[in-house]
Amino acid sequence: MSKSILITGASTGIGRALAFEFSRRGYALGLCSRRLELLELMRDELSRETKVVIAKLDVVEFKRVQEVLSRMAEELGGVEIVIANAGVAERSHPGEGTFYLDRNVIEINLLGAIATIDAGTDILKKEGGGQIVAISSVAGFRGLSSTPAYSASKAALSTYMEGIRNKLKEHKIVVTVLNPGFIDTPINTHRKSRPFVISAEKGARLMADMIEKKIWSSAVPVWPWSFITKIMRLVPERLWSKINV
Ligand SMILES: NC(=O)c1ccc[n+]([C@@H]2O[C@H](COP(=O)([O-])OP(=O)(O)OC[C@H]3O[C@@H](n4cnc5c(N)ncnc54)[C@H](OP(=O)(O)O)[C@@H]3O)[C@@H](O)[C@H]2O)c1
Repeated sequence: MSKSILITGASTGIGRALAFEFSRRGYALGLCSRRLELLELMRDELSRETKVVIAKLDVVEFKRVQEVLSRMAEELGGVEIVIANAGVAERSHPGEGTFYLDRNVIEINLLGAIATIDAGTDILKKEGGGQIVAISSVAGFRGLSSTPAYSASKAALSTYMEGIRNKLKEHKIVVTVLNPGFIDTPINTHRKSRPFVISAEKGARLMADMIEKKIWSSAVPVWPWSFITKIMRLVPERLWSKINV
């Protein structure tokens, strides 16, 4: 019997690439995001190879998250892996009238992810185990000047994942946190500089390997980002404030 996987934010970028990668690996897919029309096109393409169910879901509609993910899991006949991937990034600075952007970032990237993880855990407990994956970011390792709320959302998400790991072990649920560097997707195409950028397809291949190995956490790709994130943590605050522009 094929394994099944639920992915939030599956309509573009990393979520979309993960859907195609896991379909090639024989998984059945439950895909959701706000833009149903994009998911419909993906389903047409993917369903030649695998079973696909789709749903319109805004992860900020917290009450609907449980309902929608449970329904997709039921339609798939069970689920082994849930990936909290939906996310946005916004440039903002305090005092410039952009609090609404910060609020959006925290609601989607942190609260939407926690709602997904909460619903996913409930589903996997009933299945007798599985794996919860969060797509965090290297941006969570230090506060970035251009996107401080984004950094805060990812730091909090990674910390949350670390916090739930032991408790979920009791239910045979593995907790995996992936921290991509720059992956070529619509979230960052406007940026002037994207050091060490890799394609979404390559990123999805690396992430699918890590998920199948059930690792606890990793930068993606490992090189150079595991080295860079270690250095980021070591840089003293005064130096960080000079280079963080
Ligand atoms: N690309 C990178 O370099 C990079 C690096 C580190 C971390 N990440 C993380 O990777 C994840 C995926 O990002 P990406 O790079 O693939 O960017 P993307 O192409 O912009 O994809 C973001 C996805 O999230 C969905 N989404 C956004 N808000 C949502 C909401 N309220 N409810 C449900 N779905 C929502 C979008 O679909 P709809 O608009 O259809 O809802 C889209 O499918 C994010 O969490 C991002 O922070 C990306």
